[in-house]
This record gives sequence, structure tokens and C-alpha cells, in this order.
Amino acid sequence: MSGVFRLAIVDPQDSSRESLKTTLGDLACVWLESECARYELFAEIVIQTRPDVIIVALDADPDRALRLVEEIGHLVSDASILVTSGTADGGLILRALRVGAKEFLTLPIDVPDLTTALTRISDLDGGLRGEKTQRNLTLAVTGSSGGVGATSLAVNLGCVLAREQANEVALVDLDLALGDTDVFLDSMPDYTLADVALNVSRLDLPLLKQSLTRHESGVYLLPRPLAIQDAGIIDSDGLRRVIGLMKAAFSHVILDLSKGYNALDLVALDAADEVFLLTQLDLPGLRNVVRLMGCLGEVEGLVDKVKIIANRVGRGDGQIGFKNAEENIGKEFFWKLPNDYRSMIEMRNNGVPLIERSPRASLTQEIVGLAMSLPGQSSAKRSKRSSLASRWLSFWPSTERVASEESASLN
Ligand SMILES: Nc1ncnc2c1ncn2[C@@H]1O[C@H](COP(=O)(O)OP(=O)(O)OP(=O)(O)O)[C@@H](O)[C@H]1O
Ligand SMILES: [Mg+2]
Repeated sequence: MSGVFRLAIVDPQDSSRESLKTTLGDLACVWLESECARYELFAEIVIQTRPDVIIVALDADPDRALRLVEEIGHLVSDASILVTSGTADGGLILRALRVGAKEFLTLPIDVPDLTTALTRISDLDGGLRGEKTQRNLTLAVTGSSGGVGATSLAVNLGCVLAREQANEVALVDLDLALGDTDVFLDSMPDYTLADVALNVSRLDLPLLKQSLTRHESGVYLLPRPLAIQDAGIIDSDGLRRVIGLMKAAFSHVILDLSKGYNALDLVALDAADEVFLLTQLDLPGLRNVVRLMGCLGEVEGLVDKVKIIANRVGRGDGQIGFKNAEENIGKEFFWKLPNDYRSMIEMRNNGVPLIERSPRASLTQEIVGLAMSLPGQSSAKRSKRSSLASRWLSFWPSTERVASEESASLN
């Protein structure tokens, strides 16, 4: 089960509705899009919000609730409907299934019950709402030291992804004190991560999108708080909820981490489907890759998501050769981005992404290839990446060129 399911619930009984909401709050894969206490208003709500999953509580008025299940099954046929009841009465279960409910859950519902039900309907439907869920990707971009190029990649990758019409891309700046994604995109957003964290329980998806600044490239930006002292507003739980909301609202959420590897960075790493760890081919950076992989390896499931990317390849000054670098980190690089200081600095100074300012630059093309390698991008596009890669194989500096540095040890 991947992605976040947007949920709508209807239950006229306050106690069971509140208890279900508490259970939902413990599920990272769920975003409660809307709740309703009246059967007669609910059809309109689901038409407006188009949730992935709908939960209808039957007990307040089973006959009325079952008519509603049938009605909304016709109105939003791509949503999966679950029903709940305190009684596991065979007749009621049968009636619910006949009017289109996919699952019958007996109250009280706990997290494993709900997870199992969601996994089952997700598997049955080949992924809820097909494309939306499959396309959902959260990517954390971090680095093995400061200034390694993480923000440059996060911003430009986001701009490339946003060019595809089906994608809705958000960039979240988690460098809470000194983040500079707003500079890269030359925008001055009013609404920051601190505002979303403070209002997360009140925001719905349309309101969130209205609040965020949308760059001309199509990327929605959620920048760091305006004042450095506001960084403390965001705690781990708050960030987890913000990321949950962002995942529900966007097909691609790119998290630009702080490199402090603090508690918030760990929340982001945990929430990410993939982690890009950038390094340059210098001794301190590569040593930190080894240290970081060791440290991240202690968190279950984390290290498998990490893809190591070599940045500023071909820079020359004191760089270590590829083979030597790969041997020392004990892994192959997932991707290699060439050094192109001029394009990068012009991009940052003008706030115009590489894909617009320097579309033909080799660096841009490699970032396009990297974007295409992400899950959910079409296979046709992914094969384009191979040709790009092979073109690049002949461009990258040969090992001989950096042979003098090959002997450098990382330890
Ligand atoms: N492939 C590249 N070629 C040339 N210069 C690059 C490349 N990638 C990044 N840079 C340059 O490296 C510098 C640092 O980049 P960036 O701010 O993206 O790094 P960072 O890892 O986000 O830094 P910080 O640790 O401060 O957040 C910038 O001047 C940028 O233009
Ligand atoms: Mg940065």
C-alpha cells in the first residue's frame, strides 16, 4: 500500500465518530479529508471532495445509511466505500455488500483492522484511484555536507516534474533556520511551514493549495518560517501531520532537508519513499556518506530507500575518482550530476529553473533523466534515461584523468 488515502466519514453518532477519528490519526497512510454528522448532507460533500475512501457508519439509521451507500456508489464510482457497525449481524453485512460496500468493519475499530481493510481494497482496486495513488511520491533530498547541492537539485527536480501536467509538485524547505528555496525560486511566500504547522487541523486540501505560493514552473513552495526564532514552532508530530497533508494534496512532495540530521530530518526521512543523498567526490563528503549510511542503517527500512548521487562530477579540484569513491562507500552511485557552476549560479541568481533557462545543458538533461527514473514516470520516458546515461558515460571524466587522486584514502 503506497501513498496517502483521502478519506471522508459520515457518522451521526458523536462518540463513534470521534473514536474513529482518533484511530485514523494513528495511520500515516490516511488523510481525513472531510467528516460529516448528517447522512443527508454527505453525498454533496463527497461530490465536492472526491475522496479515495468513504466510511459510512450504519448504526444511527441502518436503512438510511445503506441507501446512502448505494447513492454515493453511483455518484463517485472510483471511491471505495467501507461501512461500520457495532453489530456483526450477518443480514446487515449482506445488505451492505449488496449495495456496494467493499468492507464491513465491526466497532470498535483498531489500527490493524483499518490497515488490513485499506490494504485489501487497495490491492483489489490495483491501487486506489489507480493513477493518483501510484503517482504519489515523497522524496527527501539531503547531503553528506553543507553546500553539496541538495537545494539546487530539489528545486530543479521539482520544476522538471511539474512540467508534466498530471503531476502536482510541492517543495518543502526543512532547513528551518537558513533555508533558501525561496531564493532559488525568486518568490516571497506569505505562508510558511510554521503557518501550515499551526493550522494543520483546520486546513483542507483546496485551502492548503490556495495558501501556498505557486511558482511559474508549477511548483508549490512551502518555505521555512520567516523568522529564525519561529523554527521552534514545528515539532516532530506537527511535521508528520504537515507531511501527511502535503502527501494527500500533491502527487510529488520534495523535502529539502537541513543536513543537521535532527529529529525533524528523521521524520522527513521516515516519511519519504525515496531519499537522495548527495555528495561531492571529496574526502570529507565521502567519509560522511559512510558514516551516514552506518547511522541510517540502524533505522529499520531507511537505508534501503537511500540513493547516493554524486554531484559536481568533473569539477576536478581535488576530487576522488569514481571507482575509488564507490569502493570506499561500498555502494554504486545511483546518479551522477556534472559540474556546471555557471548554469547553476545563473539559475539561482535569476530564480529561473534550469529546465527553462538552460534546457539543453548537460546538467539539466541529467536532472531530467533523474526525474524520469522516479517511480510513476512512464516507461517510455525511463528508456530515454538510458540513452542519456550512455551519452553521459562518454562525457564523464575518465578514471585516468583523476588517477592522481585515486590513491586518496577515505579513512
Ligand atoms: N552540479 C552543480 N554544478 C555546479 N555548481 C553546483 C552544482 N550543484 C550545486 N552547485 C552550486 O553549489 C552551491 C551550493 O548549492 P546548494 O545551495 O544547492 O547546496 P545545499 O546542499 O543545499 O547547501 P546548504 O547545505 O547550505 O543547504 C551553489 O552555489 C550552487 O550553485
Ligand atoms: Mg540547501
